[in-house]
Amino acid sequence: MENTKLVELLLTAEVFNRYEILNESDIPRDIRKALYSKGALKRPLVVKEDNVVRYAGKSSNELPFIDFNPMTRQFKITSFELATKWLATKGLELIKRNPVLAYYYENFDSLDVSYEDAKKVNLPAHGDKEWLSNVIAELSKNEETKEMLELVRIFSPEEINVDFDSIALNEEQMEEVRKIELALSEKDYLRKIGLVDIGKLLFIGPPGTGKTTTARALSKKLYLPLLEVKLSMITSQYLGETSKNIEKVFEIAKKLSPCILFIDEFDYVAKMRTSDEHAAIKRAVNTLLKAIDDINLVNDGVLLIAATNHPSILDLAVWRRFDKVLEFPEPEEKIRRKIFEIFLEKIEGDFNIEELVKETKSFTGADIKLVVREAVLKALLNGRKSINQSDLLSAIVEIKNRFKIRTQEA
Ligand SMILES: Nc1ncnc2c1ncn2[C@@H]1O[C@H](COP(=O)(O)OP(=O)(O)O)[C@@H](O)[C@H]1O
Ligand SMILES: [Mg+2]
Repeated sequence: MENTKLVELLLTAEVFNRYEILNESDIPRDIRKALYSKGALKRPLVVKEDNVVRYAGKSSNELPFIDFNPMTRQFKITSFELATKWLATKGLELIKRNPVLAYYYENFDSLDVSYEDAKKVNLPAHGDKEWLSNVIAELSKNEETKEMLELVRIFSPEEINVDFDSIALNEEQMEEVRKIELALSEKDYLRKIGLVDIGKLLFIGPPGTGKTTTARALSKKLYLPLLEVKLSMITSQYLGETSKNIEKVFEIAKKLSPCILFIDEFDYVAKMRTSDEHAAIKRAVNTLLKAIDDINLVNDGVLLIAATNHPSILDLAVWRRFDKVLEFPEPEEKIRRKIFEIFLEKIEGDFNIEELVKETKSFTGADIKLVVREAVLKALLNGRKSINQSDLLSAIVEIKNRFKIRTQEA
């Protein structure tokens, strides 16, 4: 087993080095992870002892067509021909899920494997956290792009810890997630038929209904880096600075493409409009609208998601920029039931979710999360690691009282 993996690793590096048509995303994710130690994956790839250990578990070499140099700690193939023949008989399964090797064997050997099929099961490099840190390190070397990076929070999909199993979505929301997935996988087809106005979403709904969480789960699911920016954070008191910041945010998104650009507190654009008719503010708004026009998923690889809690203050010029407005309403019974199930899943205790659902009309997902948190902490205070229905019901009452305070203050 270590032998086949060793040969697979070495041949992958060798074939990758020989055929410029192949890119990092053709290298299987496990092999990329084993090779990242030296930074970005650049030609020529060199395979050293530590890479072999990381991929194959240990590094032993009894094969006649492989050479190990104890000085440089480097492995090398001495006969490409022997190595390819050997792997064709011993490692067909590995070849089938390795796009680099599938490419080679499909084109230069009569082995019945498919590059396309291997590609389908391999995750692309832009989702690796190492890939992202290498791009960021590269961009940080330049003063101008370094400034751009400071305006956004960047997450690798590998670092995101929410997924669609832990979010309760309604039919329309789930369908939209599915459509985005398809738009991405069928990007070439969409470009061919000229359908490029796609991939600009506006999430609207009250706070705590899952807008941010959905954007993050999308990043994980689509294996795309996520760039988060709050519009209020890039607004500067200095005239002209805001426009520049907006341009920088979109520029950095294009540099990190493919990625998701998530613009939160998007209603800030409307506030900018009405608060003051100052020329600089108008310019900032226009810059933003133009930046939205100038970016798209099919050509730039940037999926744009804007989110707002106050959709009513957005005007038509803003609305029509988005090809889909997705509502995040206060969850109805069916969804609340799912949210309770999600949050109570790992908690021990005796409870009746039906009753909880009935008692939590107009609660958001965030409110339900608070209910469960309260109930758990209350139970802990009483020395219990399991909760019961009355813990949950009194937590609901408590949260309802908080609502009252909130609305009295408002
Ligand atoms: N539909 C939902 N399903 C599961 N959890 C939810 C849902 N809506 C909200 N939550 C929980 O509430 C919290 C806040 O949600 P968030 O996505 O930040 O809301 P928003 O961005 O709409 O204000 C999250 O931690 C999430 O766990
Ligand atoms: Mg949010």
